[in-house]
Amino acid sequence: MTGAFTVAIDGPAAAGKGTIARAVAAEFGLAHLDTGLLYRAVGARVLAGDEAVAAARGLDPATLEDADLRSQAVAEAASRVAVIPEVRDALVSFQRAFARRAGGAVLDGRDIGTVICPEAEVKLYVTASAEARAERRWRELCDRGQDADRDTVLDEVRARDARDAGRATAPLRPAEGAVIVDTSAMSIAEAVAAALAAVRQAKRRG
Ligand code: DC
Repeated sequence: MTGAFTVAIDGPAAAGKGTIARAVAAEFGLAHLDTGLLYRAVGARVLAGDEAVAAARGLDPATLEDADLRSQAVAEAASRVAVIPEVRDALVSFQRAFARRAGGAVLDGRDIGTVICPEAEVKLYVTASAEARAERRWRELCDRGQDADRDTVLDEVRARDARDAGRATAPLRPAEGAVIVDTSAMSIAEAVAAALAAVRQAKRRG
């Protein structure tokens, strides 16, 4: 493939975006960026005592994989720093450059199709009911040996949804023209198949 080909994948936490993004990247040979990691890295710096905007401006995206950014505390901190417009601004140019790199890219996040790359060749909005997402998250935590409470996990999912969708800057919502993939009643294989079909269709059109 020559030139830019961008797949923008947005949706709420634990809807299956990451799994779908990795599968799309592998199938079509595209680079993948999990943009949540950028906000998690800033959130982690804030938990360590740094100021949010300075942390975002000083972020080195090359170091993202190294840090442990997967905890619930870091997810919460990420969702809080993500409401700050200056934090979002500081992260835009890296994401845009990644999106339009030669050879193509898949980015998953909350505002990829709406703000970062509205011109993306494929836009997917991957969603599921809060209950289905909380159930998955809870099972994941149990599988990791963590002592998680189902209702608490559901409350956390709802709180993060409310913050991500209710913020003034770049709120979570489907981009214009996005294909909606509701994974509530789908297996992982079905969700991945639906996403791959949408990308294949866009490639045929293009
Ligand atoms: O996808 P995630 O759970 O790793 O994202 C963590 C938080 O980062 C999420 O609650 C909101 C924020 N985020 C964002 O505002 N915009 C993005 N493109 C990606 C994540």
